[in-house]
Amino acid sequence: MSTRPPLRAAVVGAGRMGMVHGHLLQVHPETELVGFVDRDTSLAEHLASQGLRAPLYPSVAALYAAAPPDAVFVCTPTHTHVAVVRECLARRVHLFVEKPLATSRADAEAILRLATDAGVMHAAGYVYAHLPVVQAAHDLVAAGALGELLRFTAHAYVSEVFGPKKGWFFQKEQAGGGVVANMASHVLFILGWYFGAIRRVAASTRSHFSTVDDSAQVLFTFANGVTGLLDTSWSVPGTQMLDYGLAVDGRNGTLVLRRERILLHLLAPAAGHDAGWNEIHASDLPADTAFDVSPHIGGEAFYRQLQSFVDACRTGVLPFCSLAEACNTQRMIEAIYASAAAGAPVDA
Ligand SMILES: NC(=O)c1ccc[n+]([C@@H]2O[C@H](COP(=O)([O-])OP(=O)(O)OC[C@H]3O[C@@H](n4cnc5c(N)ncnc54)[C@H](O)[C@@H]3O)[C@@H](O)[C@H]2O)c1
Repeated sequence: MSTRPPLRAAVVGAGRMGMVHGHLLQVHPETELVGFVDRDTSLAEHLASQGLRAPLYPSVAALYAAAPPDAVFVCTPTHTHVAVVRECLARRVHLFVEKPLATSRADAEAILRLATDAGVMHAAGYVYAHLPVVQAAHDLVAAGALGELLRFTAHAYVSEVFGPKKGWFFQKEQAGGGVVANMASHVLFILGWYFGAIRRVAASTRSHFSTVDDSAQVLFTFANGVTGLLDTSWSVPGTQMLDYGLAVDGRNGTLVLRRERILLHLLAPAAGHDAGWNEIHASDLPADTAFDVSPHIGGEAFYRQLQSFVDACRTGVLPFCSLAEACNTQRMIEAIYASAAAGAPVDA
């Protein structure tokens, strides 16, 4: 148990993700949840009924007057992030922003600039990248187990949209897009982490049920020469939990990343693994997770995400999945929509 005083954190936006972060901050031994901010003050009763004990304030100013935090978690609708961040950073607080960062690359970069100029620690909510199995696959690729990287295929599917949808999440100008910006972006973050910056994108998107993109197919060329395909849809029946996967081919082998395991086929031994098929199951990886408040989405990754943010605030060293890395994802999202709108490849 740490003897350091807890990181005092507040959550702005007490909806779906705000409650997930509130629960995490309430139970993590190194954090103290000092308050929520939401325009909708009628949510106070609901928060209490969910076991969330911190007070709800109607504005950031009211929170700062009553219970100044060390860090804020921005969990408001995506189009409001830049304004909320600007308001929060009027006082020096560390900053966690839910993904996607913004509805445009320009706003995402503005958020990064605000945080950099304020000299605070910052992170974004691409939570799946914190899964140990995703980290282990990254480390194998980065260690050169596959030799020179050549190509990949990736997918992200979920059963969510099968008819017209209401609310901000299904308005492009408020959510930044549909399945690409809001679900596949988790996989885009991982692709950017594994392969770096993109050079060229050819994409098509389709709206099957809602007015935003419900599915997309994307062909990428990365600056390092790797090419690959992403297929995504949130209108796939039978997939209640996010089904994501990635298969990477290199000159020395193939790596297949799935939710529960990595399959690695090597032509020559590498990175401590034999030639032929190797299987690394998620349960074989070190378990350093103290609790899991959200087993159905992200699971233990939420704990790891928070721990890395807390460590950054303590040490002054930017965490993994900082706003700079999230800006790379925003660049990919914007290039995909630009290519789909143009009906032609675009250079990023
Ligand atoms: N990491 C993930 O997997 C994941 C999953 C879902 C949503 N998200 C992201 O989390 C963010 C929030 O999404 P959600 O589904 O929780 O939204 P939500 O609609 O459930 O909640 C948003 C809350 O913010 C409040 N709000 C709106 N504008 C405000 C403002 N200016 N100041 C204070 N409060 C305000 C609303 O009253 C509402 O209670 C979005 O950026 C979304 O894309 C991330």
